[in-house]
Amino acid sequence: MTSAGVAVFLSGRGSNFVALHQAMQRGEVPAEITVVVSNEPDAGGVAYAREQGLPVEVVPHRGAGGRKAHERQVLEALHGYRVDWICLAGYMRLLSAAFVDRFAERILNIHPSLLPSFPGLNVQQAALDHGVRIAGCTVHLVDSGLDSGPIVVQRAVPVLDGDDAAALSARILEQEHVAYAEALNRLLTETWRIEGRCVRFAAKASEEVG
Ligand code: GRF
Repeated sequence: MTSAGVAVFLSGRGSNFVALHQAMQRGEVPAEITVVVSNEPDAGGVAYAREQGLPVEVVPHRGAGGRKAHERQVLEALHGYRVDWICLAGYMRLLSAAFVDRFAERILNIHPSLLPSFPGLNVQQAALDHGVRIAGCTVHLVDSGLDSGPIVVQRAVPVLDGDDAAALSARILEQEHVAYAEALNRLLTETWRIEGRCVRFAAKASEEVG
């Protein structure tokens, strides 16, 4: 199987990026990170990418002249890299419909809640404030809405008595690191289609009845 070229977009610490990269290095996902794009020059993920010798394109949004202009600069920066998929990993920018259309059904995002509950920011605290007993994370295809595209993988964790946002976030993050690689691997190795707002995976031969 040929390996897919993945551009990782990030703005911060980059632990999901690291987990994805390591899963690829272990051979668990038939893909390679061909470029890391960050709007934040000092992001932890940028430092890791450089240590690993991965190509990095820093495209600051501040001073870019607005969202459209920033996205144009991002597209220019991607030029020359093999980009079959884009994985958003803590990328703190909403993508326009025009950008999403350029990579239709080829952009993934990871979000630290069980969508459609708690889209947006500070969602672990929102889950605690709501009193949910089960929290988790979602990997989804990106559409032009906020955390609204078709769901690929979800993993759940319990909310424990006495949890604060930091404790719950850490428990969810562990599952994020598993979920992202699982989602990308499934999309790359299985047959699937979008039906309505659902991702439908074809049953594998071994799972077929009869
Ligand atoms: C993660 O919680 C992810 O779900 C959200 O932003 C956070 C990024 O963390 N979209 P990291 O930079 O991958 O460590």
